[in-house]
Amino acid sequence: METFGVSGAAGFIGSNFTHFAIGKGHKVIAIDSLSYPGFLFNLEPWILKSRILGLKNGKDFSRVNFSIEKRHDRIYKKVFSNKVLCQIPDNKLKGYNITLFENKEDFTREIESFIESNEKLLFIIASITDEELINIILPHVNCFFNFAAETHVDRSILSQEEFIFTDILGTYNILKVLIKYKNVKKFIQISTDEVYGSSIEGSFNESSILNPSSPYAATKASADLLCLAFYKTFNAPAILIRPSNNYGPRQYPEKLIPLSIIKILKGEKVPIYGSGKQKREWIYVDDCVKGIYQVFLRGTAGEIYNIGSGFEIENLEVVQKIGNILGKNEDIYEFVKDRPSHDTRYFLNSSKIKSLGWEPETDFEEGLKLTVDWYIENKDLYIKIMESADFSSFYKLWYQKR
Ligand code: TYD
Repeated sequence: METFGVSGAAGFIGSNFTHFAIGKGHKVIAIDSLSYPGFLFNLEPWILKSRILGLKNGKDFSRVNFSIEKRHDRIYKKVFSNKVLCQIPDNKLKGYNITLFENKEDFTREIESFIESNEKLLFIIASITDEELINIILPHVNCFFNFAAETHVDRSILSQEEFIFTDILGTYNILKVLIKYKNVKKFIQISTDEVYGSSIEGSFNESSILNPSSPYAATKASADLLCLAFYKTFNAPAILIRPSNNYGPRQYPEKLIPLSIIKILKGEKVPIYGSGKQKREWIYVDDCVKGIYQVFLRGTAGEIYNIGSGFEIENLEVVQKIGNILGKNEDIYEFVKDRPSHDTRYFLNSSKIKSLGWEPETDFEEGLKLTVDWYIENKDLYIKIMESADFSSFYKLWYQKR
């Protein structure tokens, strides 16, 4: 059974994929910088009996958040100067048993000991932009899945540097290390349908032109091109996956569906951009994860695979459906100023991945009900996230102007 490297493993799709991969019997070396949407609890229960490691930057640093912050600071400064990329608040680490290593040799031995053990999950606090750490980790995996990315369009309108840093330079960093080693048989890069831009009718297939509208989509398109160029030039075993809008458990509540659920549960109104008539093709995260796994099993290096459900719906209708499930139909939304360069519609042709033997299994009504139930069950946790410093400051900055 292969050992997977999974970056962005504490985020939404990455954590759902990690659960699935462990269920399939794989060992997973999970990597995540624990930036704002990454949480160790997304990997529970596995994480509770797993080793969680970090590499200290220097002898002076006694606190994990400080040392890791410093690490990012150093790398970040190389590119954009003067800005700290990632800080891990203490409460994200509370209750977990984290071991920090002073030197690379001990750290590497810990990874080797995990490989020899019958443990399923090893978690490493690391950013994909950290070349030293990626260099240590990659020789121990057979297949690498890169879910790590800044993904929120609205944030990319407010500030672009984090997107350029993580989405482009982070991917480049993995590719650069990847071609040094021959043990990684497949490098699966999780991209997005947003690289194709908007289409009022018809669908995008894998050879449609790239026409990104947001800074976020532009950085993902850039990373895609790097992967394809590394495949052609250096034979890097890169495969691109372009999923449509995912929804389901463990999604950070800045995105439409979890935001709407929590807002309605709190008795607040959901902000609808513009007319609310924009359409998205929604795929339940479990279906997407299964598609990614199918690409691991049967996909070919240098190829691109769209993953869509074939189900599209207008934003306003999505919010109304959530209201219906929660038994609330009145005063649940308000129209706000539109997002600049707001894509009207995304829709994918997913026949290529279907030819690998994959089909979506969850219809929207069923998936939405499962998702709402999950957020009801975890309501207190998500209200806390929405009250956190990160979420509140973003919310104020973005929505106050709407
Ligand atoms: P989002 O979940 O941010 O995903 P994406 O922009 O990547 O598709 O948004 C989904 C749709 O919902 C998109 O058309 C924007 C819209 N939207 C709102 O109307 N209000 C909101 O507060 C948010 C977050 C999104």
